[in-house]
Amino acid sequence: KKQMQIAIDGPAAAGKSTVAKIIAEKLSYIYIDTGAMYRALTYKALQAQADLEDADELLQLLRESIIDLKPGEAGQLVLINGKDVTDEIRTSEVTNSVSFVAKHAPVREEMVKRQQLFAEKGGVVMDGRDIGTHVLPNADVKIFLKASVEERAKRRHLENISKGFSSDIEKLKEEIILRDKRDSEREAAPLKKAEDAIELDTTSLSIADVVDQIISIAKERE
Ligand code: C5P
Repeated sequence: KKQMQIAIDGPAAAGKSTVAKIIAEKLSYIYIDTGAMYRALTYKALQAQADLEDADELLQLLRESIIDLKPGEAGQLVLINGKDVTDEIRTSEVTNSVSFVAKHAPVREEMVKRQQLFAEKGGVVMDGRDIGTHVLPNADVKIFLKASVEERAKRRHLENISKGFSSDIEKLKEEIILRDKRDSEREAAPLKKAEDAIELDTTSLSIADVVDQIISIAKERE
């Protein structure tokens, strides 16, 4: 059986990581959350009170940082130099700063190198913004997931509530719109559907439907 590369891109909170994780499990592939890598660097930069506009300073911080993604008991763990930052990288402070860190070309180059190494052997599901366009331009399967902003804010809101976090759906909606705008309008590898990606609008689809559709596309190419 072919060990494929499956690329899943799309805007914020479109359900990429949820479906990518399930697909990876079903195919016994590894799952690489590239957003978590940008989040980890952002967390580190905020801790260091770095200037988020200073690409050199951020690149230096990245070079000092080994970012590991590894399976844990309650899902994927994200580690920087061995320190578990799985929860820390999901705070709204990190979420609302990450697009500033991710816009710098030198930072992206280093991230892309690392991501390509992770995917080298195939058998990988990778999600992000530029996987189909830049990281894995020859991926066997490219999916672009989208959903209405109302639906994405609603899903994130319900997720927050289920975790016992306070949550304001209107604020979430504004933050999602702003993050997508920053990610789409940057010069370096902006959020964009690859020409050969299959677009799936998940607004009125269940997680299981999206997973099944992607798996059947993948099976055809195995
Ligand atoms: O996927 P997630 O929402 O965790 O991504 C966080 C942020 O990381 C995105 O808003 C974007 O700024 C950046 N990112 C990126 N390229 C990727 C993955 C994430 O620029 N491949």
